[in-house]
Amino acid sequence: MCGIVGYVGRRSAVDVVIDGLRRLEYRGYDSAGVALVADGPEGGLEVDKRAGKLANLEGALADHPLPESFCGIGHTRWATHGVPSDRNAHPHLSADGRVALIHNGIIENFAQLRAELESEGVEFESDTDTEAAAHLLGREYAVDGDLTEAMTRVCVRLEGAFTLLAVAADDPDTVVGARRNSPLVVGLGEGEYFLASDVAAFIAYTTDAVELGQDQIVTIDRDGVTVRGFDGQASEGTPFSVDWDIAAAEKGGFDTFMRKEIHEQPAAVADTLRGRIDESGQIVLDEVRMSDQDFRDIDKVFIIACGTSYHAGLVTKYAIEHWTRIPCEVELASEFRYRDPVLDRSTLVVAISQSGETMDTLMAVRHAKDQKARVLSISNTVGSTIPRESDAVLYTRAGIEVAVASTKAFLTQLAACYLVGLHLAQVRGIKYADEVSAVLDELVAAPGKIAKVIEDLEPVRQMARDCASAQRVLFIGRHVGYPVALEGALKLKELAYLHAEGFAAGELKHGPISLIEEGTPVIAIVPSPRGRSLLHDKIISNIQEVKARGAKVIAVCEEGDRITKAHADLVITTPASPTLLAPLLTAVPLQEFAAELATALGRDIDQPRNLAKSVTVE
Ligand code: F6R
Repeated sequence: MCGIVGYVGRRSAVDVVIDGLRRLEYRGYDSAGVALVADGPEGGLEVDKRAGKLANLEGALADHPLPESFCGIGHTRWATHGVPSDRNAHPHLSADGRVALIHNGIIENFAQLRAELESEGVEFESDTDTEAAAHLLGREYAVDGDLTEAMTRVCVRLEGAFTLLAVAADDPDTVVGARRNSPLVVGLGEGEYFLASDVAAFIAYTTDAVELGQDQIVTIDRDGVTVRGFDGQASEGTPFSVDWDIAAAEKGGFDTFMRKEIHEQPAAVADTLRGRIDESGQIVLDEVRMSDQDFRDIDKVFIIACGTSYHAGLVTKYAIEHWTRIPCEVELASEFRYRDPVLDRSTLVVAISQSGETMDTLMAVRHAKDQKARVLSISNTVGSTIPRESDAVLYTRAGIEVAVASTKAFLTQLAACYLVGLHLAQVRGIKYADEVSAVLDELVAAPGKIAKVIEDLEPVRQMARDCASAQRVLFIGRHVGYPVALEGALKLKELAYLHAEGFAAGELKHGPISLIEEGTPVIAIVPSPRGRSLLHDKIISNIQEVKARGAKVIAVCEEGDRITKAHADLVITTPASPTLLAPLLTAVPLQEFAAELATALGRDIDQPRNLAKSVTVE
């Protein structure tokens, strides 16, 4: 939610900052702005900010270039307080115009601060929460002309979640940042330093980075980086090296990031599995601050997550309960802490979050920890807040996911969740030992099967184009096909802005079947006809029910499933797979279906309206 970049060095600051914003635009694209400190003894702040996507700002800067500068900050916004407009775009200036500030997060006590400042005669120019912090910072900076000291005094007055970056008119060599509950990383170049919400912003210049901790203030100038706590005491961040390069943050020949990321799924799943199963067939977690006995003492599992990650959690429930026989609940993170869940030391909470920064999930994790539950997180972002606050972590290795709609993150979450389920089963004693070892073999074979699904997507694209004029598209599934149906509908909603809903197939007759009209597309996720044939029989009945009411049925079924072929209007086939692992295959055509239908409707599939990739507000 909001992307921020700061730079000090020898390059043109506007070029570095705009380049960084381009790579952070996935975090929000309601407006964009920059503030540069002009080089030379006079200094002075140069600000430009525009509503709309970054391209608007780039156009304005091309028409009216800013003076040369080697120090600056930039922001791409996902609006919380105040509509997307030039006025509400960041940076915001202090009343005296001497400091410029950008912000990611929400300052919860902004109304009180604003009232206080207004009573002292300060006039506000925007509707944002951020502007109050800009005025406070300007006031403190005026005291001693030290931006770091001023930021320290301001931060202790702020409540909520924030990453702040600031520059001052008369200091062309310094950017100061502060972080609480929102991400901020430092990039270390040679004689140049970067601050950003995400390493993607500076990956073109350096792979050496420092992750900042909670309640830290960082100052970069041409000589280096200093870190202190909100209490003013010297502190340190955690150095790390980024293990992917600029090519991963580019489209690599695809027309969109989403299509590139769909194609990266076989490699991403293979990477996520690699090295996680040791020679004795035991699952290896990354960081574990829990003993085997702690795992054995678990008598209940809660999975908490949002959006697509929640759908990965729903699939995992089926796997964990089957493999471990431990009761498992899946809960939307945004609801979890508000309903007083029953948690104790013997509860394992599995938090799934691609970004590792989703505020709803983070707050649910903190609530779980307050109740003494153990937390195991699954995340794609090394060192992000949720893994850092968890007792154990398994990282997905999807690489950077730029498209706002999650694809490879989802599949790698599934792979990691299966590993967690199997780890729990192994530590506690396996009930279905033969099945579990067969599942491990099938998991390792999954990337090859996903690649096969991706090779065969052309018919799916045609089906999607044919559905472009539909009023709505319904998705139905049973067992693990149900969360896949939910995920297919979410992808279509977010990309195509079309009414799409996923249902447990058996629920249709309890109400939603009335949505079906002549020609309504219904996508049915059909389980394997082998093994659990009862499940297969039931969904064939559901297909017949909707067909009888005029639906056009597209079935996603296993290769060679003749029964489904006989009942559906169209079929999309996937290679054979054990039922519990099938979502790794059946989700893929639904991603492509949504992308293609949205493209046919002229939507921007990498940056759908109103969304942002990293949701760092509650
Ligand atoms: C949908 C999507 C979102 C995220 C959700 C959680 O395509 O990407 O629904 O899954 O915002 O994000 P993370 O996993 O970062 O916590």
